[in-house]
Amino acid sequence: MVSTSREQFGSKLGFILAAAGSAVGIGNLVGFPVNAAKNGGAAFLILYAIFVFAICVPVMMAELAAGRASQRGPFGCYRHFADAKPWWHIGGLLAVITPFMIAVFYLVLTVWIFGYLAAIVSGNLSAMSDASFFGDFINGKILFLYVVFVAAFVGVTLHFGVQKGIERGAKIMMPTLFFMLIALVVFILFQEGAGAGVKYYLIPDFSKLTTEVVNGAMSQAFFSLSLGMGIMITYGSYMDKRESIPGSARLVALADTTVAFTAGLLVLPAIFAFNPNTNPDDLSSSSVSLIFTFLPKIFLAMQAAIGYFGASLVAALFFLLVLFAALTSLISIIEVPVCAAMDQFCITRNKALLVVGIAIIITSLACVVSFGMVPFFTEFTQYGGGVKSFFDLVIDVFYDTILPLNGALICIFVVYQWKKHNLDSELEQGDPEYKSSIMERYINFALGTFIPAILVLVFINTV
Ligand code: PFF
Repeated sequence: MVSTSREQFGSKLGFILAAAGSAVGIGNLVGFPVNAAKNGGAAFLILYAIFVFAICVPVMMAELAAGRASQRGPFGCYRHFADAKPWWHIGGLLAVITPFMIAVFYLVLTVWIFGYLAAIVSGNLSAMSDASFFGDFINGKILFLYVVFVAAFVGVTLHFGVQKGIERGAKIMMPTLFFMLIALVVFILFQEGAGAGVKYYLIPDFSKLTTEVVNGAMSQAFFSLSLGMGIMITYGSYMDKRESIPGSARLVALADTTVAFTAGLLVLPAIFAFNPNTNPDDLSSSSVSLIFTFLPKIFLAMQAAIGYFGASLVAALFFLLVLFAALTSLISIIEVPVCAAMDQFCITRNKALLVVGIAIIITSLACVVSFGMVPFFTEFTQYGGGVKSFFDLVIDVFYDTILPLNGALICIFVVYQWKKHNLDSELEQGDPEYKSSIMERYINFALGTFIPAILVLVFINTV
């Protein structure tokens, strides 16, 4: 049973900002610029943009349409359209377990970002360049307090529901995020030596596009648009029938890609201007080591030009920017299991939030202590020739591996189980021009053929 009066976004802008808030995250601000710099600059960018618009936008449309037509989150959606075929319920289950587990590791990352911001604001930027800072930080007891702060912020936002919580939060945080990003880019571009970074970022080098890079660009685009996580199915279920799904999906993708591109104009010129001896090929491709060990050094180096206070201010702005991006993503992903619990057990938002929230916090704590505090979680398992912590395991399985599989499943489900004509009529709602357009023909063909095939290939390649 599902409650009859389902919550809805209050306006088109509200939906776009909330969905863009989900999409714009750590992946855009740090992952994308460094991947692009290391893997051929503009060549990577072109490839990425093709993947976003030719592959990811159709998947986003399929997720939004399935959510809006079923008026349910992912688990309910799979059940609604395939009630008599229990094997499809596995797809629904995966689409709830995956966001739950991604929320677990993303909460930890957000807590670290919050902790770094607090440290910078308390005047500790210089300490961050010590080699031992990060290691000590992730084992500090204060993190437990930060978990409470971040969880409380997300919990309160979700408690207020779709319009007054998610939408209002996005309406405040997203424009602020955008202005902070622009202000930082303008500041960095005026620094001596920044031009070399822009050149490195924008000059295409097609020779770097190996199979691995192509695979990486595809995974990055998919993750960046929050696909395969049940988020767009859930947000679709809150969408007004009069809104255009194709138009909204394109706008969200455009906003997300613009932020990723703009972040490149911040991160790389900053590295070139303040650490001119860096060879971008040697940069770590791990966002974690970039954010928490490399970038603080770059910020500290700014003190030669703008003093310690100025450098701390720029660093604080940057971490606040990343914090906002992370919070809007975290809100969207925790809403998925919350919505699933409300739909499935017919309970109130607050009850669902309490149960899901406690479960996520407890599992996150297992990640928090997996860097040395509790040996059981630090040496949780062994594969790929090494001992893995619980945190690494969650990232490897749920972020690196399962996402493309979930993506392939939703495409196959929508086209072959729910059926193309139903998808068409949902997409035509609020967008009469979509009917019989080239886009409609492309989406129907692509979703039933090469898009799931590519996603399965990415999945196999990662496994
Ligand atoms: N697009 C987000 C990012 O780039 O970080 C993806 C995401 C991750 C969304 C984690 C939500 C989330 F909890």
